[in-house]
Amino acid sequence: MKDAAPQTIYLSDYTPPAFLVDSVHLTFRLDPEKTRVISKVDFRPNPQAKSRAFSLHGEGPALQWARIDGRDVTPEITETGLTCEVPDAPFTWEAEVEINPAANTALEGLYTSNGMYCTQCEAEGFRRITYYPDRPDVMAPFTVRIEGSDPVLLSNGNPLNSGPGWAEWHDPWPKPAYLFALVAGDLRAHEGSFTTRSEHEVALNVWVRPDDIGKCAFAMESLKKSMQWDEEKYGREYDLDVFNIVAVDDFNMGAMENKGLNIFNSSVVLASPETSTDATFERIEAIIAHEYFHNWTGNRITCRDWFQLCLKEGLTVFRDAQFTADMRSAPVKRIGDVIDLRARQFREDSGPLAHPVRPDSFVEINNFYTATVYEKGAEVIGMLKTLVGDEAYFRALDLYFDRHDGQACTIEDWLKVFEDATGRDLSQFKRWYSQAGTPRLSVEEEFADGTYTLTFEQHTPPTPGQPDKAPQVIPIAVGLLGPNGDEVQPTTVLEMTQARQSFTFDGLGARPVPSILRGFSAPVTVTRDSSTNERAFLLAHDTDPFNRWEAGRDLARETLMRMAQHGGAPDRGYLDALAAVLRDDTLDPAFRALALRQPGQDDIARALHEAGHTPDPEAIFHAADRFGAALAEHLKDTLHALYTAMDVPGPYRPDADDAGRRDLQNAALALKTRLDGGAAARAQFAAAGNMTQQLGALSSLMAQGLGDAENTAFAEQWHDDRLVMDRWFALQVAHARLEQAPKTAAQMTARSDFNLKNPNRFRAVFGALAGNAGGFHAASGAGYELLADWLIRLDPINPQTTARMCAAFQTWPRYDADRQARIKAALHRIQNAPSLSRDTAEMVARILGD
Ligand code: TRP
Ligand code: ZN
Repeated sequence: MKDAAPQTIYLSDYTPPAFLVDSVHLTFRLDPEKTRVISKVDFRPNPQAKSRAFSLHGEGPALQWARIDGRDVTPEITETGLTCEVPDAPFTWEAEVEINPAANTALEGLYTSNGMYCTQCEAEGFRRITYYPDRPDVMAPFTVRIEGSDPVLLSNGNPLNSGPGWAEWHDPWPKPAYLFALVAGDLRAHEGSFTTRSEHEVALNVWVRPDDIGKCAFAMESLKKSMQWDEEKYGREYDLDVFNIVAVDDFNMGAMENKGLNIFNSSVVLASPETSTDATFERIEAIIAHEYFHNWTGNRITCRDWFQLCLKEGLTVFRDAQFTADMRSAPVKRIGDVIDLRARQFREDSGPLAHPVRPDSFVEINNFYTATVYEKGAEVIGMLKTLVGDEAYFRALDLYFDRHDGQACTIEDWLKVFEDATGRDLSQFKRWYSQAGTPRLSVEEEFADGTYTLTFEQHTPPTPGQPDKAPQVIPIAVGLLGPNGDEVQPTTVLEMTQARQSFTFDGLGARPVPSILRGFSAPVTVTRDSSTNERAFLLAHDTDPFNRWEAGRDLARETLMRMAQHGGAPDRGYLDALAAVLRDDTLDPAFRALALRQPGQDDIARALHEAGHTPDPEAIFHAADRFGAALAEHLKDTLHALYTAMDVPGPYRPDADDAGRRDLQNAALALKTRLDGGAAARAQFAAAGNMTQQLGALSSLMAQGLGDAENTAFAEQWHDDRLVMDRWFALQVAHARLEQAPKTAAQMTARSDFNLKNPNRFRAVFGALAGNAGGFHAASGAGYELLADWLIRLDPINPQTTARMCAAFQTWPRYDADRQARIKAALHRIQNAPSLSRDTAEMVARILGD
C-alpha cells in the first residue's frame, strides 16, 4: 500500500494507549478469497492515558459493520485505521470484516501458502486481519473460533472445543496482537510430550504437510531439549497444555514465536540426513530453541513499543547461544557467532544503515529486525553478564521475571533490574543501547621493571545522525603468556570506562605476550601492531580457544589484505603455525575446521576500507584464490592425512562430534580439490550417504569450475525437493566467477522452477548473488543491475523481503567512484519505481543517506 508521506515514528513520542483490552473474541469464517473475521473486544479507558480518543489500526480489511455495546456505529475509516466516538467508560466493540488471504503475497497478516492458511502478525500484521489496537503494550486474553473445511484448525493457547468444520481455542495469557496466530490446512502431526518439573504434561506437535511427516523427529527432540534447558538454566517452565509448531513453505523470515503456536519457515524445521546438512541440523536446533525461549523473553514479558525490540530479541538470541554452547561446543559456537557478527553486524555498523541497538526512530519497523538489534543486542547482554558475573546475572534475571511477568517493558526496566540486583550504576553502560557504530580499541604496551602496562584508547567513528560519541564501558578480558607459552596471568576482566585508560600487571619476570579480548568479550575492533611471530605464537599457545583462533584469523586477514593490494603470498610462519594446529589431534575437529576457513571476501573489503584503502573486489577475489592455492600446496600432506582421518564410522548422527569431523573433512576436501583435479570430491559425491557429504563434494568441485556431471545429477535427483533445490540454486550463483555470477543468476530466474513469490527461492538466487562479493561487484555493474531489476519486480509482491534484500547495496561508500555511481544508479532506479512500498523506500533512502 503506497503511503503518500511516510511517517517517521519517534521513541520520544511514546504515549500510553487510550484504551486497554480486557478480552478478545475472534471468529474466522475461512475462505481463500473472502474470509470473514468477526471480532468482539472489551475495552476500558486506560487510567494512565492522557487522551480519550478512540482509534484502531487496520490496513486493508473491508469493514462490513461495527457496533458499540450492541448499537450500530459508523466509524471514520482512514488509510491506516479507523476512529469512532465511544463512551468514557468500559464498552464492547464488535465488528465484521472481509479479507482475501489468497491475494496476500506480502506474507503479513492472514495468507495462504500451498493451500494452507497461516498468519504472520509481528510486527504490525494483525491490522491486516481486523481493526484492533495493534501495539505491543495492549495485551489481552484471546478466544478464537475457526470455521473452515480443513481438517486441522489451530490457534494460540489451549484447545477448547471442536467439531466437524470448526474448532475453538483459548489463550489465557494476556498477549499483544503480534503474537496472535492461526493455521488451517491438511496437516499431519509428529507428536510428542513433555512433563514439566511441576508435573504438568504438555502435548507437543510438529505440524507439516503429509509428505514431510518423516522429517520432524529432529525438531521434536530439539524442542524437548529446549524445554528442559530453560527449566534447568533459567527456572522457566512452559505454561499451556499444548505447544504446537507448524512448518510453512512461504515465509519472510526464519520463524515466529506466536504464543503456543510457533510458525516456522519449513527450511528450519524439516530435517533428514539425506536432505539436510549438519549446519542445517544445528540451525534447526538453535531456532526451535530461540522461538521456544521467547515464551518467557518476549511473550510473558513483552516490549512496550517496537523501539524496545532488542529487549526480547537480544535476550533471546543470547539465551539460544547459551543453549547451543551447552548442547555442543562452547568455543566453536562463540567463534561461529563472531564470524557472523563481523560479516553482518560490523558491516551494518560501518555503513549508512548503522543504527543503535535501540533505534530512536523508524519509518517501517520491519526494517529494524537487523543484526544490530539481534546480534549486537545479544552481545550487549553478554557484556552485562561479564561485568556483573554469572551469579548476579541469574539473580537479576529472576528479578526480571518476578517483577515484570505479564508486562510490556522497556530497556530502562531491564537495566533497572540489574541495578537493583547488583547495586551498580549502569547509566554509562546504557550507551551501548543508544550509540551506533563499532568502537575501535587501540592498544599500546610498555614493560619496565617487571611491570607491564596496557593502555587502551577507544574511538567510535561517526554514524548517521551521531557525529560524536561518548566513551562506552568495555569489558576487556585479558590474559598474559610468558615467553615459553605458559600463562602468567589467567583471564581477568579489565573494565574500561574512559576514552584512554591504562592497566598494569606487576611482578612479571619477562615481557609477556598479551591475549586481548579473550572470548571476544566486547563487540569492538581491536587494532594493535604485532608481529607475525607473536600471532603465530598465540595461534600455537593461547589457552583461550577464541583468541587462539583469532590469532590465525588476524594473520589470514592481514595476509589477504596485503595480497589484494600488492600481490605476494602467505608467509611461512603463518602456514607452519596453521599446519601445526591442523595436525594437533587434541583439538576439536570443528575448531580446526574454523582455523582452516578463510575470512570472507566482504570482510577483507571492509577491513581495507577501514584501513583507509579502496577495496578492489576483483583483486580480493584473486587474492583469495591464490591464498587457497598456497594453503593447498603447503598443507598437501596434512590435508591428505586429515581427509582420511576424519572419516566418520557408523550411521549418520547430526551431533556436534560427528558434524565437526565431517566439517573438517569437507574443509580439507575443498583444498584437496585444487590439487587432485577433483578425484576425491567425485568419489565422495558418488559414495555420499548424506547431504553434508554430497553438498560438500559438489561445492568443492564447483568452486574449482569442475563437477558439471555431478551438478546435473544432483538437480535430477532432487528436483522434487524444494528445500534441497534452494541449496542447488544458491550453489550455482555462489560459485560462478566474477562477471559470470550475474549471468548465472539471470539464468536461474529463467527456469520454470524459479518462483518469485517464494522468499526461500528468491533468497537462494539473490542472497547468493549478494554474497558472492566478486560477482556482485563485478566491474560491469551487471550484478547491481540484475538485483535492482528483480527487487523492482518483487516489491509490489513482497515489500518486506524486498526491503531486506536492498541491504546488499549498503556497502557502496567503500568502493571506487565508478562502482559507487553504478550502485547509486541502481538505487535511484528502485527509488523511482512506481508505487514503491514504504519498506523499500525507507531502506533505499537510508542507504543513499537521503
Ligand atoms: N520474532 C521473530 C523471531 O525473531 C522474527 C520475526 C519478526 C518474524 N518479524 C517476522 C518472522 C516476520 C517472520 C516474519 O523469532
Ligand atoms: Zn526472536
